[in-house]
Amino acid sequence: MSIFSIFSRRQPEPLPEELTTDIHSHLLPGLDDGATNMEETLAMLRTFQERGYRRLYTTPHILQDYFPNSPETILPALEQVRTAVAQAGIEIEIFAAAEYYLDDAFIAAVNQNASLLSMGPKKYVLFETAFINEPVHLREVIFQLFSNGYTPVLAHPERYQYFFDNFARVEDIFSTGVLFQVNYLSFANYYAPPVLKLAEQLTDAGMVHFLGSDCHKPRHLEAMKALAKSKHWRKALNLPLLNRSL
Ligand SMILES: [Fe+2]
Repeated sequence: MSIFSIFSRRQPEPLPEELTTDIHSHLLPGLDDGATNMEETLAMLRTFQERGYRRLYTTPHILQDYFPNSPETILPALEQVRTAVAQAGIEIEIFAAAEYYLDDAFIAAVNQNASLLSMGPKKYVLFETAFINEPVHLREVIFQLFSNGYTPVLAHPERYQYFFDNFARVEDIFSTGVLFQVNYLSFANYYAPPVLKLAEQLTDAGMVHFLGSDCHKPRHLEAMKALAKSKHWRKALNLPLLNRSL
């Protein structure tokens, strides 16, 4: 090897530490637009296990008009899945929270300090918003969640059109203390180029607290294979992600 080849060799990129905990998915059968039946649930859980996951917090949609879920629908479904997982010999711990949609019902629940489905001792509450326009109550809801002892986690900020090409607006929301959960598939350009761009910007700025699969169907796990080509995905995995604290 010549001295020139030593100097021209680039530093290898640090290998990412893979995650073993996922915090965003739709794996309880029949509750939302995720798993259709138990067979599909178990197939997806097997794939998670094969990829090294040991713990999943699955997060059914709670959306008043389409998926009016509550602990009364979610917790019995979780128990059924746990029983099926044990019978199938799948070695994965599964918990349930929710992905709350910021609608009138959620605002009312937060204003009444109702008990919410959350994750871990910091009581992370995953929530999403409309995709096109920023909800007028976004900041108030974040503030009120903190006041109620929860830690709000905004699901996939990179997917909201109101953040596209407006990083100052992203930083403004970030400054409220809300945590950001970016979707794996955003790095694979699964949704749209502006989503990829924002996921990369957030990663470069270190503004990613959690990564989530947002897995609804087996095709999402299949699409995640394309991540191997994403430099920013590896960069995101090297951030101090809070997935590792749960
Ligand atoms: Fe989701």
